[in-house]
Amino acid sequence: MKNLLSMNDLEINEIEMILDRALELQQKASSSLKKQFTVANLFFEPSTRTKLSFEMAERKLGLHVLSFEAGTSSTIKGESLYDTVRTLEAIGVDAVVIRHEKDQFYEELLSGLNLAIINAGDGTGQHPSQCLLDLYTIKQEFGKFEGIKVTIVGDISHSRVAKSNALALKKLGAHVTFLCPPEWQGEFHSISKWEKVLPTTDVIMLLRVQHERHITTSSYTREAYHDQYGLTQARYDQLKETAIIMHPAPFNRDVEIASELVESDKSRIFKQMHNGVFVRMAILESVLEER
Ligand code: CP
Repeated sequence: MKNLLSMNDLEINEIEMILDRALELQQKASSSLKKQFTVANLFFEPSTRTKLSFEMAERKLGLHVLSFEAGTSSTIKGESLYDTVRTLEAIGVDAVVIRHEKDQFYEELLSGLNLAIINAGDGTGQHPSQCLLDLYTIKQEFGKFEGIKVTIVGDISHSRVAKSNALALKKLGAHVTFLCPPEWQGEFHSISKWEKVLPTTDVIMLLRVQHERHITTSSYTREAYHDQYGLTQARYDQLKETAIIMHPAPFNRDVEIASELVESDKSRIFKQMHNGVFVRMAILESVLEER
């Protein structure tokens, strides 16, 4: 794998290769990297999990990690993304992990640069490393994707997590249903209702309401959204015994999910974060080992 840009680019065998390698790494296999590589994490949008999880993965692989702070970098003086990344390449960086508010920011980096590019979230486009850790968590739970019923709930049209997961899960044979306010449906169909999905779904994948991406103010108060689209205790009680709850986080407590359910028996939210380190190790290995 040269870069990781979009789940569109990964074949089923490549997804499985990353998940299998993440499992080996979680079971304490050592890194297969022969050379000492240097990576930099360029986050132009806020992040806690993705940034620190990549940094943890990089340190576990024994990589050199260069610090980069968007707010004190020369991007503030107007330097373009291409010129910033070209500069990092010139000083010896082998891979960059980038989160950027622009959809498909990576397009301008695909010619003229030889370092590896890992997309850590592009605007409302894709979030492939989150998707791969979600897939890993689902496989860990159910051992397969074929026939697994996943319901993605919430702010779908603004969510790169929803787009990456819908694409990959369908490719892998899962049944994907959506539950969302009509104005946040985007290009997705199969919009369902709680009463239909609760008794049948295997995975409830909740999404954060992304106020920062809404052009107009949301018409939902916190309480109104929670009542209509949030996972309440009453809804939780109707889930299958084996069902699990996922959320990429950060979560708005008592909006997408009742606060007391965040660490409930069916919640895999912190498990997702834990798994993310090993999945990101496998991604980094994959883009660096051919270099
Ligand atoms: N899930 C996720 O992308 O979280 P951060 O925005 O904190 O990285």
